[in-house]
Amino acid sequence: MNDAIRITRAATRKPKPKDSELGFGTVFADHMFLADFQEEKGWYDPRIEPYGPLTLDPATAVLHYAQAVFEGLKAFRGVDGRVRLFRPHKHIERLNTSAKRMRIPPLDPDLALRSLVELVGLERDWVPSSVGTSLYIRPTIVATEPFLGVRPAKSYLYFVILSPVGAYYPEGMNPVKILVMEKYVRAVEGGVGAAKTGGNYAASLLPAEEAHAAGFTQVLYLDGVHRKYVEEVGTMNIMLRLGDEVVTPPLTGTILPGVTRDSVLALLREWGFAVSERPISMDEVIDAARNETLREVWGTGTAAVISPVGELAYRNQRMVINDGRIGELTQRLYESIVDIQYGRVRDTRGWTLEV
Ligand code: COI
Repeated sequence: MNDAIRITRAATRKPKPKDSELGFGTVFADHMFLADFQEEKGWYDPRIEPYGPLTLDPATAVLHYAQAVFEGLKAFRGVDGRVRLFRPHKHIERLNTSAKRMRIPPLDPDLALRSLVELVGLERDWVPSSVGTSLYIRPTIVATEPFLGVRPAKSYLYFVILSPVGAYYPEGMNPVKILVMEKYVRAVEGGVGAAKTGGNYAASLLPAEEAHAAGFTQVLYLDGVHRKYVEEVGTMNIMLRLGDEVVTPPLTGTILPGVTRDSVLALLREWGFAVSERPISMDEVIDAARNETLREVWGTGTAAVISPVGELAYRNQRMVINDGRIGELTQRLYESIVDIQYGRVRDTRGWTLEV
């Protein structure tokens, strides 16, 4: 579809929060992008409109059976004042992979890219400039057909909203405490664990609440079959530095194929680290903690960026990592990713797209 994007400008502009007051996902830019899908027409009527509520029939399919997918990516204001999207093509590819699993019609990648570039271009004043802040972009597709039967909907809405954000975790770059979860699981092979779909996040709320009540910031899920192998945190992928090796769970359909995960693995390989995408059992982690070869643990995610893990609690054991301090490789990865995102170094990998 090569339709022109229709633009209706907001009559008034909202005040922008100060960079120092930014949390995560509470304030939204003045405009949003929308496009509709109908079986007979495909995707049509791409448009930018003032940000505002959607009107949905109570029978709308997404409200009942959660046929929906989303993405999360960021635009950064560089030290040179330029605005860059980080890995937009990779996010669009994942949006369409998620859509396929949820039986949602894919977006034309060109339309998806145009939606991001045009919307962020129009709202560039909403991209904050302090390090640690960015404009979070939330592309979403929902089934809009009012119909209660369980089958794929015949109509969909694609929308993109923008939110200026600071750090995702209140701890910022300080190490987080994570509870290794045995009671609940996140996904099984053949399920929807690799799709970025709302239900995965709804299912994480109760385990997260129980972990918070016990004093932990996040939950580390184990595999759904043996409850033995490390999977992911739900808001980020997990990586461990065991001796001289960096290990992370493989993409077998149960974890989200993180874009930051992919970027970090590429950097580590370029730097000559031994990197393995392989199953990691909790027994191995416990042994490594005992032998003092569990050197660093960190999470990777678009919202979380690189998040150091200071403690893992499993059954009745508490494994303090690197004395609860940020590890040297964790810090190097954080700085390298952020340097690319804020244009402090030249992007030699084609990861950023200037808007
Ligand atoms: C992201 O990292 O962008 C996500 O979508 C995770 C979500 C918990 C905010």
